[in-house]
Amino acid sequence: MDRRLGILLAGALVALSCSELRKDLPAPVAPGVNVHDAAWSDPLNVPLNSGFHGRQLQAAQPAWNDQSCRVCHGGDYAGGTSGVACYRCHSAYPHSVKFSTATGRHQGYLRGTYFPLATCAECHGASYTGGPVVAISCEQSGCHVDAAGNAKSPETCNTCHGTFSAPANLTGLPLLLSAAPPGSVAGDTSTTSPGVGAHQKHLVTGTNGKLLKCQECHTVPNKWNDPGHIPSPATLAKVSAAGVVFRDTLANLVTGNGSLIPHPAFDPGTAKCSNTYCHGNWLLRKSSAPSIAQQVYKDTATVMVGAKASPSWTAGSSEGQCYSCHGLAPDKYTPVGHEDYALSACSICHGDVVDAGGKIFNRVKHMNGVIDLVSGFGGTRPMK
Ligand code: HEC
Ligand code: HEC
Ligand code: HEC
Ligand code: HEC
Ligand code: HEC
Ligand code: HEC
Ligand code: HEC
Repeated sequence: MDRRLGILLAGALVALSCSELRKDLPAPVAPGVNVHDAAWSDPLNVPLNSGFHGRQLQAAQPAWNDQSCRVCHGGDYAGGTSGVACYRCHSAYPHSVKFSTATGRHQGYLRGTYFPLATCAECHGASYTGGPVVAISCEQSGCHVDAAGNAKSPETCNTCHGTFSAPANLTGLPLLLSAAPPGSVAGDTSTTSPGVGAHQKHLVTGTNGKLLKCQECHTVPNKWNDPGHIPSPATLAKVSAAGVVFRDTLANLVTGNGSLIPHPAFDPGTAKCSNTYCHGNWLLRKSSAPSIAQQVYKDTATVMVGAKASPSWTAGSSEGQCYSCHGLAPDKYTPVGHEDYALSACSICHGDVVDAGGKIFNRVKHMNGVIDLVSGFGGTRPMK
């Protein structure tokens, strides 16, 4: 095919709609043969009526119909018989084929490419409500909206994880809670999936302990594109290990008169936490206790210690039994070094936290870093 035919073909593409074009197209060509004229790929030549390929596609009826291009550039835009992939120059468009082959459509594509939202904004607009290139808004009816149909930006905290249909315009704690799994980034909703795990138990549905904030376990981004928030290929390994960082106070509570520094950690490989104060990595000294409290130290014990459990994030309620964090076995609830008592007896001395049935009735005082005792046994004092 010579240059003239190339110009002719380009002229035909300009003049006719794509569906009409297809009948007139020559057989797919071999790589290296020019079929388009210079204006076709000259980005300086971009008025709407120009010969530039992008403007031609925008002006096509119906708009953006690229069927004719796929004859030579491949059904997947990866080159076809022309040998020229659209993706040589475009990172995110044409996207329909990439989107529909990625698991989970464009969500899957975005996850697999580390959420390059800036490339989407180039065409869909800086606020994703339709832009100079394409009038399609991400926030149109049925797409990025809340349960009541109110528009939500794709940059909202609950788009990529949490509750996608949570109300628009949440702020503060409600916004963070709406961003907590389920769902996970991959869309999982089962508590046996590490991305979901025991989030809700720690944040909302827990019955035995105080409710936690995200900061207890995570660095929380102010904006979705804060550095370190979205993993990149380079930081992926680092981030998934560092995603649970325990920078807040409770998991790190120092006890034993400064001698026990917990060093809490999460192992993504086993999905287990270890060494947290909360799950029993603490120590009390008899010598530091008021004399009335010293009587509860068992036999010759000089210290009392928690169970230092390493709970599995995905194992569910078995990790939250009354013996899990300060006893040793189903019939042993008191810490090592503490006199043994039945669950029904705890309330005699810890009666502001637990009732005579062995149930926590004041969960705000349980697992709060404070020794809670009725006044006859010394009252409350910091756990240290
Ligand atoms: C008949 C086959 C054929 C059809 C149909 C076709 N192309 Fe091409 N295209 C080619 C070939 C061959 C090349 C490489 C040679 C050239 O640049 O002419 C190419 C190159 C290109 C280039 C790169 C030019 C450069 O400077 O590197 C762009 C952009 C392009 N095509 C866009 C399109 C678009 C958009 C459509 C649909 C509206 C389309 N093509 C339809 C065969 C085709
Ligand atoms: C040689 C590089 C190159 C190739 C190959 C290429 N394009 Fe483009 N395309 C561009 C440039 C440059 C622009 C203008 C970008 C801009 O305006 O910011 C553009 C713009 C577009 C636009 C208009 C949207 C816009 O950003 O203005 C569409 C639609 C488009 N290209 C489709 C295609 C399709 C379909 C293919 C494959 C058949 C293809 N392009 C291959 C370079 C290329
Ligand atoms: C070069 C311009 C361009 C870029 C870049 C672009 N889009 Fe689009 N988008 C379009 C056009 C044109 C349409 C309508 C035609 C179509 O569906 O291909 C569209 C349609 C869509 C649709 C609705 C149709 C469908 O396939 O489900 C979604 C969703 C979408 N885009 C998401 C995205 C996302 C996410 C990105 C960033 C990764 C992105 N787009 C980048 C131009 C673009
Ligand atoms: C564009 C998608 C996207 C948006 C929007 C988004 N996140 Fe994330 N978020 C992610 C991804 C991806 C991860 C990493 C998951 C992993 O490491 O497995 C993540 C992880 C997190 C984590 C766990 C800590 C960590 O670093 O792994 C928290 C907390 C979090 N996001 C909060 C937020 C908040 C708050 C917002 C709003 C300001 C937000 N996210 C908006 C994609 C998003
Ligand atoms: C008790 C500790 C804890 C608290 C509190 C906590 N998280 Fe997590 N979070 C985790 C663990 C553990 C993971 C799993 C990390 C892994 O597998 O790499 C995780 C993972 C995540 C992820 C990534 C999910 C995925 O698909 O990989 C997001 C997003 C997240 N948390 C958001 C939040 C938000 C938002 C809050 C507060 C509303 C919060 N978390 C509170 C422990 C916690
Ligand atoms: C997730 C770990 C964990 C589980 C599960 C747990 N505890 Fe505790 N418990 C603690 C920690 C940590 C303390 C230390 C005091 C504090 O921080 O408030 C504590 C303290 C206590 C105390 C002493 C009073 C106080 O708050 O100082 C009693 C009594 C008690 N727990 C009873 C129970 C009972 C009853 C159950 C089951 C319903 C239970 N615990 C389950 C972690 C746990
Ligand atoms: C006779 C009173 C008494 C009874 C009954 C009793 N405790 Fe205690 N417990 C104490 C005293 C006193 C301390 C504080 C020791 C100190 O100050 O060093 C203590 C400390 C603890 C601690 C660590 C510090 C704190 O307050 O969290 C836990 C955990 C605990 N008890 C759990 C239990 C559980 C569970 C039961 C019931 C199975 C129970 N205790 C029954 C008197 C009692």
